[in-house]
Amino acid sequence: CKVVKPKNEEVLSYLPGSKERISLKAKLKEMQKTSMELPLIIDGKEVHTGKMGTCIIPHHKEHVLATYHMAGEKEVERAIQAALKAKKEWENTPWEHRISVFLKAAELISQPWRDTLNAATMLGQSKTVYEADADSACEIQDFFRYNSYFVSQILQEQPECIPGIFNRIEYRPLEGFVFAVTPFNFTAIGGNLPSTPAMVGNTVVWKPASSAIYSNYFLMKVLQEAGLPDGVINFIPGPGNVVGPMVMSHKMLAGIHFTGSTETFNHMWRTVAQNLGNYIGYPRIVGETGGKDFVFAHHSADIDALVTALVFGGFSFQGQKCSATSRVYIPHSIWPSVKNKLLDQVSTIKLGDVEDFTNFMGAVIDQNAFNSIKSYIDYARTSDEAEIIFGGKCDDRVGFFIEPTVIVTTNPRFKTMEEEIFGPVVTIYVYKDQELEEALDLCEQTSKYALTGAIFSQDRKAIIDMEKRLSNAAGNLYINDRTTGAFVGLQPFGGARASGTNEKVGSKQNVSRWMSPRTIKETF
Ligand code: ALA
Repeated sequence: CKVVKPKNEEVLSYLPGSKERISLKAKLKEMQKTSMELPLIIDGKEVHTGKMGTCIIPHHKEHVLATYHMAGEKEVERAIQAALKAKKEWENTPWEHRISVFLKAAELISQPWRDTLNAATMLGQSKTVYEADADSACEIQDFFRYNSYFVSQILQEQPECIPGIFNRIEYRPLEGFVFAVTPFNFTAIGGNLPSTPAMVGNTVVWKPASSAIYSNYFLMKVLQEAGLPDGVINFIPGPGNVVGPMVMSHKMLAGIHFTGSTETFNHMWRTVAQNLGNYIGYPRIVGETGGKDFVFAHHSADIDALVTALVFGGFSFQGQKCSATSRVYIPHSIWPSVKNKLLDQVSTIKLGDVEDFTNFMGAVIDQNAFNSIKSYIDYARTSDEAEIIFGGKCDDRVGFFIEPTVIVTTNPRFKTMEEEIFGPVVTIYVYKDQELEEALDLCEQTSKYALTGAIFSQDRKAIIDMEKRLSNAAGNLYINDRTTGAFVGLQPFGGARASGTNEKVGSKQNVSRWMSPRTIKETF
């Protein structure tokens, strides 16, 4: 069969009085009434270890949403064995049947699981209703449907046959199992990273980030309800320093699908390098890590569009996106108007409990994140080279709240212009209009990352020049738009340099990374 190209799922309105708002509000209440105990899921069975961790609400840090069982070495080995055992049957399952599991999961997420996933993401990760719906309802469905479409496209790619010779390619999965390691900031990535390799016949050991276990557990339940056979994806929350070394030194490790910090990804590469020779092949390592994402404005920029992009790109989901706007270059001639409009807009941002749907920002994910972001703000506060022109207050008495913070620096290489903060902090450098070339060089060269960036101009020649000059600074470049919010299938997402291997998630290229094609030639 041929899978038809899907359309992106749309975020619901959640307007006061709407059906979706009433039912989500009820789910949010219901989910806070009881504290669940979340098991591991290995070979389709619930596994309890008694070694417990807790899932809290970042904006009500004393509220324990759930406790979860953590994998130890025994469970890691069990999960690997379950994946290896399930492999034979799964890889021989016709591909249409494999992808039908994920297409069905997409339908189940649309209904009846939408409220549960959204409420879990709002409570467990402090996303606002619209951020949650875009992530845990829409983007996951998009990943499942687009990747199914890409699978069907790839399978049709066959070499030509000539008289007497019949050529074909068999798209096999990798030999062994795949390790999926997923982050806290997108429930959808929790859905995508284990599922993409599984769609093409791989079996997977999945370690979710500890601060997203609550929502990710429900995702695992959706996949099971959609008919995922036992052992195809094994859900094992647990400490990274227990799970990681065991999985990554296993002889049958065939690949790693990762999203998370550059530091962890570097550690994974080193571990794999140390184990080369023990594996049966070369594990495929596909990863997306951090960013230090820029906005570069030309003097011809539309100031309203620029300011809106700064606010949404910098502060939505508390800046906890690898794609979040973090360093900004503004020409001196437009700075006074940009500054006035930015201060106007940012001062309207409401911060607080995400159960109040009018709040634009919730809390940052945990105490470590709070401390780390605060240390950058404190650094700027005491520096002669920077001024905090908005925000800067950090308050962790009830939850991990950090105000949207705007820093202006006179040093284009100031610490907050260079290092990833992963929080609601935007640093601006104002350049002299006559030094546009130097400012472009700075933008291109300042960061070790190269994930997203945006240029703002209404002058076509300037756009062409800037696009060329900033050719290595971003894997996703936006013209007159914010640095966040790529749509699956429309803006394939990923970056290079220290931002990862740039094998765009939700793309044909990414799907093909989980395949090990066999070319077959038959002579008559
Ligand atoms: N894919 C996400 C974005 O574009 C991270 O913002």
